[in-house]
Amino acid sequence: MMDHLRLSSSSSSSSLPFIFLLSFFLILISSSSFSSSVSAASFNVTTLSFDEGYSPLFGDGNLIRSSDGKSVRLLLDRFTGSGFISSDLYQHGFFSAKIKLPSDYTAGVVVAFYMSNGDIFEKTHDELDFEFLGNIRGKKWRVQTNVYGNGSVSRGREERYNLWFDPSREFHRYSILWTNKNIIFYIDDVPIREVVRSEEMGGDFPSKPMSLYATIWDASNWATSGGKYKVNYKYAPFVSEYSDLVLQGCAVDPIQQVSAAGCSEKDAEVESADYAVITPRRRTAMKNFRSRYMYYSYCYDSLRYSVPPPECVSVPEEKHRFKETGRLKFGGHPRRSRRRHGRIPVGSSSEDQSDI
Ligand SMILES: *[C@@H]1O[C@H](CO)[C@@H](O)[C@H](O)[C@H]1NC(C)=O
Ligand SMILES: *[C@@H]1O[C@H](CO)[C@@H](O)[C@H](O)[C@H]1NC(C)=O
Repeated sequence: MMDHLRLSSSSSSSSLPFIFLLSFFLILISSSSFSSSVSAASFNVTTLSFDEGYSPLFGDGNLIRSSDGKSVRLLLDRFTGSGFISSDLYQHGFFSAKIKLPSDYTAGVVVAFYMSNGDIFEKTHDELDFEFLGNIRGKKWRVQTNVYGNGSVSRGREERYNLWFDPSREFHRYSILWTNKNIIFYIDDVPIREVVRSEEMGGDFPSKPMSLYATIWDASNWATSGGKYKVNYKYAPFVSEYSDLVLQGCAVDPIQQVSAAGCSEKDAEVESADYAVITPRRRTAMKNFRSRYMYYSYCYDSLRYSVPPPECVSVPEEKHRFKETGRLKFGGHPRRSRRRHGRIPVGSSSEDQSDI
């Protein structure tokens, strides 16, 4: 969204108000036409109460259950962030929550909703991420997805997107489908990214049982314009909310987690559910989302990967928008940063060495 405004600031001053208005209408048109093309149907899922499926992870005092136990708030204040974790590990499944993000000034704040086994497999961990990156006042939250497999921390697979709505105003469903064959990230019922497993990906495709995590934390030195904007605790506490919690997969005992052999029945159930199918309508919604809202893709970052990783599929409608840095040709978000580990207080070996 800000891209248009940034472009207009370099134009001659006399045409500035006109370009500003034009950009504004273009924004209105493009967002409304996208959201109206998105169907309102939602997945047929069974939701859990917090205590049925999850446990506090850190910052317990900043984890607040609703009175009916069905939703939970995670707060970040000047003393600590907070987080929760699924009580079981899962070998494949569908993992989802409706999430509402903190509003107003959220620079430096990161909300993460992800699967990982970094606590158990320190050197060979798997991970599937949604990361919501806070922003300065008036600018929207941005979203990053990422995939690691078997400790592939030197090969980040980041994509970054703007959204067609304000995620701090209302709840939207964020979901991760993970099967033996593919991974799909959904926002509401729009598949925003699919990773199809290929032989060449080898261990880079997550294969070991993972837990689901939700966390809010201070990423001042990374999240917003490479750390230029820090968390400002004048606006604390920062409140994220989670409801309609879903864990549909093969639960694996944390102690005997390696014996995930009995999962074939549950796998079949997950793979035949409606969320496992990208219908032609969803395929179109995915294409539209990606060609409008994706603003960084590792697949188009040829400076970083001279040969794109094997799962990358070059889509002309997407590719023509990107420079060889994987960033947008026009009004891309100039950002140089090095992500610092920090969302889990102990144990994770997740360290993204990328420079986005
Ligand atoms: C939703 O799922 C349940 C159980 O998984 C099933 O019994 C029910 O028929 C499904 N409903 C629809 C509308 O598909
Ligand atoms: C994962 O990495 C370990 C250690 O490097 C290796 O021994 C193992 O074969 C890898 N597993 C897969 C599935 O690639």
